[in-house]
Amino acid sequence: MASPSSKKLESDSSQSRTAGADLNSEGAVADGKSAASDSGDAGADAVGATADGGGATADGGGATADGGGATADGGGAAADDSGVAEADAGVFESLMSLIEQKLKLKKSDGEEPPVLQSVDVAGVVAFMQSGRCKNIITMAGAGISTSAGIPDFRSPGSGLYSNLQKYDLPYPEAIFELGFFRQNPQPFFTLAKELYPGSFNPTPSHFFVKLLEEKGLLLRHYTQNIDTLEHVAGISESKLIEAHGSFRTAHCLGCRKSYNQDWIKDEVFADRVPSCESCGAVVKPDIVFFGEALPDRFYKAVATDFRKCDLLIVMGTSLTVQPFASLIDNVPPKCPRLLINRDAVGVTGVAATLQRLMGKGQAFQPSKNKRDVALIGDCDDGCFTLARQLGWQDDLQRLITEGKKKS
Ligand code: OAD
Ligand code: ZN
Repeated sequence: MASPSSKKLESDSSQSRTAGADLNSEGAVADGKSAASDSGDAGADAVGATADGGGATADGGGATADGGGATADGGGAAADDSGVAEADAGVFESLMSLIEQKLKLKKSDGEEPPVLQSVDVAGVVAFMQSGRCKNIITMAGAGISTSAGIPDFRSPGSGLYSNLQKYDLPYPEAIFELGFFRQNPQPFFTLAKELYPGSFNPTPSHFFVKLLEEKGLLLRHYTQNIDTLEHVAGISESKLIEAHGSFRTAHCLGCRKSYNQDWIKDEVFADRVPSCESCGAVVKPDIVFFGEALPDRFYKAVATDFRKCDLLIVMGTSLTVQPFASLIDNVPPKCPRLLINRDAVGVTGVAATLQRLMGKGQAFQPSKNKRDVALIGDCDDGCFTLARQLGWQDDLQRLITEGKKKS
């Protein structure tokens, strides 16, 4: 689990690395247990947060970082859809309801109406058309690029981490770990050549984000992807946060001398492990590896963006890598959140219930939830659905067609 103050890239499945390739299922069990054993703290947080009246998200940095762990646990637990987890979830939900009643923490009936008229896609669309939704933040992961032909990481079978046998790694994520890379950079560069940006075209999901920008609604697009397809789709530099860096620059791991995209590309395509012209150490593209800090620009933008957010759209990510995953807890307590993803990440299980008790993470629970909507399925389909309901289908199609002409 990510430590609350961590600024470094961490995967929540890292605890189960000794389990080898079966990271997902092992991670779910391990995370579920550790979350359950944290329940004392969780309860304390929940009371404090609810008493604030604003939910735990209102209490800033500490809560956010805690939420990160809980969120990712929820993602892991979602993979474990056993009846036991569901039953536990029900028990916790009832328990929370009881605590709320006993402590008289329930809000009165005269409270402000929720932001969404209906907690579904139609409600989100109505809100987007209401004039009250001015600042949309989009958060994306590898799932928005799979229809371009780029594998994601964790989808069983097709994901990158299921297909790295030829690299003979101690565990799949080692390919993106700084410690491993220093000892053996070859596997990363072999993979980099295979997946090198430039060979792929943006998807309708990328163009949907561009369309949000064109409509003046996009506050920022936060991406974990290093495929640069956001650039190719024309999303402005100022609107884009590449949380896990990109291939556009590179640095020597020894003397920090910087290298440009063309230099590193030539090296990669010549099947060389790039080495520094000054000191001979290995040169690494500026993509963020596990164990490295995220770019300053990421932290600066996070500090001001999320509190202004009117609508958060999360697309194509398993929400398992920190600190990115915990960003969903940084939006204001009533800010609607729309998930467009094949998997309902962070939804069920004990850990997810605990996180709801703390007011953190995506709930998607019909009984209490007033702001979280899930469009389960392919991102592109979800974006087409939204565009159609918003009356933007021609605009989206135009961007897609123009994009094809350029490629
Ligand atoms: P993951 O592979 O962990 O998750 C991708 C999510 O997208 C999964 O929930 C899929 O079910 C879903 N998905 C895949 N294709 C989809 C589609 N066409 N439509 C809708 N959903 C789809 O990828 P990320 O969450 O991006 O870090 O992974 C996070 C980070 O882990 C990456 O940035 C990478 C990796 O280690 C680094 O390499 C530094
Ligand atoms: Zn050097």
